[in-house]
Amino acid sequence: MAALPAFLKLKVDHKTVLCRDLNAYRALRDFLLNSGYSSVYETDRVGEAKTAMATFACLSSLTGERLAVVLGMSAPEEVSHAQAPFAYGFAGKPQKDAQTYMQHLALRTTDIDKLKAYLESKGAEFLTPIYKDKDSFGPLLQSFTRELFDDEWFFIEFVQRDYDADKVGAGGTQFVQNTVKSLYVSKQEEFREWEKTGKKRKFLDGVPEKERTNLLRDILVNTMALL
Ligand SMILES: [Fe+2]
Repeated sequence: MAALPAFLKLKVDHKTVLCRDLNAYRALRDFLLNSGYSSVYETDRVGEAKTAMATFACLSSLTGERLAVVLGMSAPEEVSHAQAPFAYGFAGKPQKDAQTYMQHLALRTTDIDKLKAYLESKGAEFLTPIYKDKDSFGPLLQSFTRELFDDEWFFIEFVQRDYDADKVGAGGTQFVQNTVKSLYVSKQEEFREWEKTGKKRKFLDGVPEKERTNLLRDILVNTMALL
């Protein structure tokens, strides 16, 4: 296998987990706070007029692992996309007992512009542009892919942080409000489209079939041990 370019040597930046309801959200949050994680930020409601989500982000000082815990808030006439795994199931079946769902994996690159251009040149499709924002730790660039599978709700976030992300402490609590709101709106639009048509455009739909596995392997090759 040819050596991967530097921008494709990806590290796990964080994982985001959806919760079925307020009980699951509070239980997971309390469990993490009692397990060596400290809060990075917490936000009550970010989204659209009808639906939204609450987020709790935390960092383990022991392992450096970052986790975000999300509670989707649906309205009587509209399901939040962050409730989709619980409202519509996953892995091809209804999931009435599932309390959590891993919604996205964020992978850190050294050059998000090059990475996105490279993946798009192969036919991969992103849901969002590259958002340029700042959190407590420093400048933060993020771009989100379309979902990977028909019967799942999983996607990848690519991140570039222009500082040594493995060497920061718990930091402050600045929150990338604009990015999270923009992402929420884009995901909700994508989800409404799926509810209407039952179809979704996936991350690798535009990549020739025989190249998909290799491309996905190149993206995940350095992260498998951590999943
Ligand atoms: Fe994320």
